[in-house]
Amino acid sequence: MTNNKNILEILQNEHTQVLDLFSQIEKEKTLEKKQEIFKKIKTELDKHNHAEERTFYKKIKEESGQKLLITVGQEEHELAERFMDELENESDEVKWLAKIQILKTLVEDHVSDEEEDIFEVAKQIYNVKELEMIGEEFLAEKKNIMESKGFVGALQNMFKRKT
Ligand SMILES: [Fe+2]
Ligand SMILES: [Fe+2]
Repeated sequence: MTNNKNILEILQNEHTQVLDLFSQIEKEKTLEKKQEIFKKIKTELDKHNHAEERTFYKKIKEESGQKLLITVGQEEHELAERFMDELENESDEVKWLAKIQILKTLVEDHVSDEEEDIFEVAKQIYNVKELEMIGEEFLAEKKNIMESKGFVGALQNMFKRKT
């Protein structure tokens, strides 16, 4: 772990981690193990995508005029989210294996468009200091998301115990 706060490096690291998890799924033999790793992917992507939209995308959309580029990214996030819900509920093993491959392609394409096109725009309009400030905002937003999820989880447990 580095202390780097540059948003482009933070995002790139997280992309690599998620793509590694997809490779791990391919290496695992049992469906059970594959699904365990998928759960991790879903949790990580949910946090990553939401924090990315609320900080990085939001700023670029407002400050670069590249509304279409960012909207494509947001729509891809939504597509991945819906598809991950479908995967969670898929009981047919072969269909599940087919869908995880499709999700992998979707995420790979999204990540490379992001790193090529959106990162390019960010480099044109922000200096290093600004990229670091956006990185800090991104990390703070992720922390918020995790804390609010933890809070909801704690509440749910409280109610479970009472009933
Ligand atoms: Fe991303
Ligand atoms: Fe993204």
